[in-house]
Amino acid sequence: MDPGQAKQRAARLREEIERHNALYYQHARPEISDRDFDALLRELQGIEATHPDLITPDSPTQRVGGKPLEGFTQITHRVPMMSLDNTYSENELREFYARLKKGLGKENIRCIIEPKVDGVAVAVRYEDGLLKYAATRGDGRTGDDITQNIKTIRSLPLRLPASVPQTFEVRGEVYMNRKDFDKMNDEREEAGEARFANPRNSTAGSLKQLDPREVAKRPLKVIFYGLGDGGAARLESQSDIITLLKNAGLPKAELVWHCDTDEKIITAIRELDEKRKNLAYETDGAVIKVDAFSEQRDLGATSKAPRWAIAYKYQAEQAETRLLAVDIQVGRTGALTPVARLEPVLLSGSTVSNATLHNFEEIERKDIRVGDFVTIEKAGEVIPAVVSVNLAKRTGDEKHVPTPSHCPVCQAVVVNDESQVAIRCSNHDCPEQVKRRIEHFTHRGAMDIRGLGEQVVAQLVDAKLVRDPADLYDLNELSLAQLERQGAKSIENLLAGIQESKKQAPWRLIFGLGILHVGVSSARSLMEYYGSVDTLAGATVEELLKVQDVGGIVAQSIHDWFREGRNQALLGRLRATGVQFSNPKIKQASDNLAGTTWVITGSLSQSREEIADLIRANGGKVSGSVSGKTTYLLAGEEAGSKLDKAVKLGVKVISEAEFCAML
Ligand code: IVH
Repeated sequence: MDPGQAKQRAARLREEIERHNALYYQHARPEISDRDFDALLRELQGIEATHPDLITPDSPTQRVGGKPLEGFTQITHRVPMMSLDNTYSENELREFYARLKKGLGKENIRCIIEPKVDGVAVAVRYEDGLLKYAATRGDGRTGDDITQNIKTIRSLPLRLPASVPQTFEVRGEVYMNRKDFDKMNDEREEAGEARFANPRNSTAGSLKQLDPREVAKRPLKVIFYGLGDGGAARLESQSDIITLLKNAGLPKAELVWHCDTDEKIITAIRELDEKRKNLAYETDGAVIKVDAFSEQRDLGATSKAPRWAIAYKYQAEQAETRLLAVDIQVGRTGALTPVARLEPVLLSGSTVSNATLHNFEEIERKDIRVGDFVTIEKAGEVIPAVVSVNLAKRTGDEKHVPTPSHCPVCQAVVVNDESQVAIRCSNHDCPEQVKRRIEHFTHRGAMDIRGLGEQVVAQLVDAKLVRDPADLYDLNELSLAQLERQGAKSIENLLAGIQESKKQAPWRLIFGLGILHVGVSSARSLMEYYGSVDTLAGATVEELLKVQDVGGIVAQSIHDWFREGRNQALLGRLRATGVQFSNPKIKQASDNLAGTTWVITGSLSQSREEIADLIRANGGKVSGSVSGKTTYLLAGEEAGSKLDKAVKLGVKVISEAEFCAML
């Protein structure tokens, strides 16, 4: 074949393959067998192998063409990926609807009701008609770049039809069909591999694979239900999104209800409850959304979830089994958590042999005894919970579960933490606590030190090589040679990973320190506001309260943590090893914004962190929430409740263009 012929044939094959893909996945009307389909694909692969210059980004061969990645890069969401508030009863739904009526000042509000797909949230962006990237939710602001992995989903178009807008971002859930999941599990078992616990877990695990060829073997599917960033698409409602999805050939839920009273909503969720058993994917509930975007904007959002939507969770499936033992786990903060060991039982399609008991108070309240027959339930969570005891089956041989007075690991006395219904091991140096703290520090979401898994951490702590995170930076070849099952190569990698972590953004350090109540989101906000660990360390409670996501309890906890001598010493040692304590790149550029305090909201051309850096570099301050002390609100597109508040308080609102001019 000469290059001209090859080009023609490749184009023809691509068209054919995508046509059969659409017939198979979108219309469930295949015209050719899987075998014939594979033959077409293989022919195309052959042509592209001899003429690599002919490969296009939307070629069907590119679905599995990628090389394994070293790690995932991060993508900042243009619009944060929020979560939804949950409701569990019809009355709570009526209350939700009443809030809508009050918020909008009218009686009938058009809502749409859809199945809540129990999968893993993703954002997929198309630009100029081509699939540009896909990202996981991550912490809601930034997620993993999973473009290679998402491309392996054959029902997902790599190119949009010309008749629809060409640039926008869709949001949805990746999931596995129940049937596909079972089949895959059977095959794994035959191959001597471990079975996956449930479809959601194995979906999450699949998306985290670095090798797309491995992902291509997993039966992943995707369903879209929303837009992240509308691009040029002129849409006015949730219903318009559904139409866009349909016209774009993007997979969407086949069930949807339109309702404009609370009673109609309740009828719809009851209908869905009947129908969901026949859906191919797991649904643990329904999602109710206000249809019109104008009304969604009027209702706004809290920091976590929109006020215009809510999830309704169905009653979880239950099973009865015997409680064999209660083990005690020691957490990072010393909290002792009871864990139920159960006689294995089938629940919602997976075998269960552990369950959470939450805390000892609950064991006492429910009078749960070892040997009891207990009812367990999976309420959306992966690990089921013990909900009640079957007293009728008691024989009298059951054993009480005493609330421990001493730590089962280090024997230190246990203290009561009234505010959190927890009991804690009082020994800060308890080896179990230390292990959890180091695991937290090195975890992917914190300092992300590769090669420091649970087993290595356990060995390091047991060998007394590591007592706190700063000790990690003193490790060397000699000390690590004491570890079991660690070859020279893995020791070298581990040391390199530890060195590398010194360069991590300081919010990761703040999160990794494990300050009670400080999650990823508040760690980021804190560093966005303060710019350096040392400034944060000196902050008063009152000052801390100005930071987004930081409430009274969190502020107090942060304040107290930095006042403790032990923690100050730890910080001193971490600083001495060269761990990064300040946000990089803030060079003083000007004093143009001196004396001003800014709040940033909506979607802007750069991430909030970058804009905050710019403001600080020009002498301004950045705060998380609008108050009387705010000088300017920098508002991007789709600004919500902060904009409302600024207008109410008479705070001057500035556009991105005006902001650039001020610089
Ligand atoms: S709408 C602002 N619709 O459930 C968030 N979410 O528990 C709007 N989910 O974050 C989300 N099915 O990941 C929406 N039909 C559906 C959904 C759905 C599943 C997920 C989504 C969301 C989570 C909330």
